[in-house]
This record gives sequence, C-alpha cells and structure tokens, in this order.
Amino acid sequence: EMAEKGGFPHFMLKEIFEQPRVLRDAIHGNAEIIRDVAREIANYDKIFIVAMGTSYHAGLVGKYLLQRLAKKVPFVEDASEFRYEFEDLVDEDSLVIAITQSGETADTLAAMKLAKKKGAKVLAIVNVVGSMATRIADLTLYTHAGPEIGVAATKTYTTQLAVLTMLAIELARVLGTADEEYLKGLEESLREVPDLVEGSILNLSEPLRELAESLKDREDFFYIGRGIGLPTALEGALKLKEISYIHAEGLSAGELKHGPLALIEDGVPVVAIAPNGKTFDKMVSNIEEAKARGAYVISIGSSEKLREVSDTFIKMPNVDEVLSPIPYVVPLQLLAYHLAVLRGNDPDKPRNLAKSVTVE
Ligand code: G6P
Repeated sequence: EMAEKGGFPHFMLKEIFEQPRVLRDAIHGNAEIIRDVAREIANYDKIFIVAMGTSYHAGLVGKYLLQRLAKKVPFVEDASEFRYEFEDLVDEDSLVIAITQSGETADTLAAMKLAKKKGAKVLAIVNVVGSMATRIADLTLYTHAGPEIGVAATKTYTTQLAVLTMLAIELARVLGTADEEYLKGLEESLREVPDLVEGSILNLSEPLRELAESLKDREDFFYIGRGIGLPTALEGALKLKEISYIHAEGLSAGELKHGPLALIEDGVPVVAIAPNGKTFDKMVSNIEEAKARGAYVISIGSSEKLREVSDTFIKMPNVDEVLSPIPYVVPLQLLAYHLAVLRGNDPDKPRNLAKSVTVE
C-alpha cells in the first residue's frame, strides 16, 4: 500500500501534492474542447449549477467566475434541494451545469435527470471517465485529475476550478463581455498557477504542520471570506470537519457581526481568506474586528499588510483575484490534513463518510 501512496503516509497527502501535475493536465486536456462547449452554451441566460459537497463549493466559485467574466448570474443549488425546489422552474431554456467528481452522486444524478426530462441542456463537469453523469449529460468536460482515493476531495476540487475558470474565460470571449487582452492575460496566468501551487505546497507543508500542532486542541474554527474568496472559506471549513472532526464554520466576513462574533473569544482560530481585490480592505477590518475579541487570526493572502494584523500570515503568490480560489485552498487542505493526523484520525477514511454517496 505504501507503494500505491507513492511514499506518502496517506493518499490525501499524495493527492494534495499531485495538484500541480493534474492541474496542468486539466488545463491542457480542455484547451480545445472548451471553445466548442462555450459556444454551445453561450446563449443560455437561465443557468443552474448543481452539485454536492466539495463540488458544490466549486459551483459557488463557478458562479462568481461567470458573474465577473461572462456577466451571467447562475443559481447555484445543492442538488438535493434543486430536485424539489426547482422542479417547476427548469425548462428548455435552461442550462444545468452539474459538477461531480465521481459522476455517481445520487442527488446530482437525480437533478440531472430532472433537467433532461424538462428539456434543459445539461453540461457535466466530471472526473471519472464513463461515469453515469457523463451518460446523462449532453456535454461533458473532464477534470483529468486521475483517481482520487482520499474521501475528502482535494485534487478533484482544484481541477474543477481550473475547468470552470477556462469555461468562464471562453464564455466571456464568445459573448464579448470582457476585454480580450485581459482574458489572454488571465489564460496565461492560469497556465502558471500549477507552478505557483507547486511552490506553495513545498514551502507551506511544514509550517502548516507546526501551526496545526499549536491548534490541535481547539474545538471551533471560523473561516471567513468575501466574494470569490467566500467559497474557499466554506471549503476550508468543510475539509476541517470531514477529517479532523473539529467543528468549523465558513461564512461571509460581512456576516460575522450578525451573530458569529458572539462566539469569538480568546484564542478561537479565525482563518481569513484575503486575496488582493475589491474587498481586501473590508477583510482587513473584519480581521481587526475578530482580533479585538481575542481571535487567533490566520490570514491567507499576498499583501504584506496582513502580516501586521494577523497572528499567522500565510503568504500566497499574487494572482488575479479570479484565479485565487485554486492556490488559496491548498494551505487549507494541508492544515486540515495535519490537524487530522495530529488528532490521530485517518484522513483517508473519515468516520461516517463515503467517497461517493450513491444512496439518498
Ligand atoms: C461525498 C464526498 C465528498 C464529495 C461529495 C460529492 O460527500 O465525501 O468529498 O465532495 O460526495 O461528490 P461528487 O463525486 O459528486 O463530486
């Protein structure tokens, strides 16, 4: 088994380290097809993104990408909700984008079947070749991440983000909703993201293990973000719950004041996702607000300003905000992994959870 894990103690760590390579595969593997797919879906204005778990968080990132680049406003629904609440609203003018690593998640498949029955166009973003989702969908984009054994999704998430980014860029091009030069620049930067992720993993794994050591007895974590950083906060919290069994909440930083702040007391870890961009200054205020209540703030971003206002600063490469979800989730994966191991859990096989949920 050690051989299968390529010398890593767990599949999850191996899969985290595989991200630079599979991101390259996802980008190269979709370079041609993305154009045709973008053209086929460009005219839909009623767009639903359906998924569960980590794939749902990818869907949330997809929403921000489509809004920012293609000026489309999709609904993102957890597939188990979509099935019942959108039954009468999905029709032949709708585009349903289903995101599923396994292509076998019961609720996601049911949502796709419903969409097909109502005459909607269905695009699937899938990792497992030939899975059920690919057979239901009209169009499929593959994430090319290779088999993922760890129950908690890592490399399949970042490759989903790469595919969604490419799709949003191409849609923006087809629709003329963004400047071509800007889009070209984004594409170039996206191609550099795998190298950036590589550097981050190598530089951050050990410091994050040390950080995990100091936080391993904490029972509540908060993850805050804004805009396109928000899904990263949600995904960071999910990773922690799944494998470390630590209670974690991901929320919009603006919501902090509306309740959760009452839970912040001395030493409570608050992880702040703070890429440079529209809401950076607002994030700094939220960090200060949490710190004033005694929070232990771990900030993730590229501005040195964060070093001054945080207890721990995790430095990220400076990328366009729309590309930040890919590199920014990596330290959160590593933090959850190290916390799980330090707490004596098997991160590959968390209690009560399954890799794919094929029953409802
Ligand atoms: C399960 C897995 C998660 C995954 C979710 C959706 O809950 O434990 O890691 O994100 O299913 O799976 P899918 O294969 O549809 O992406």
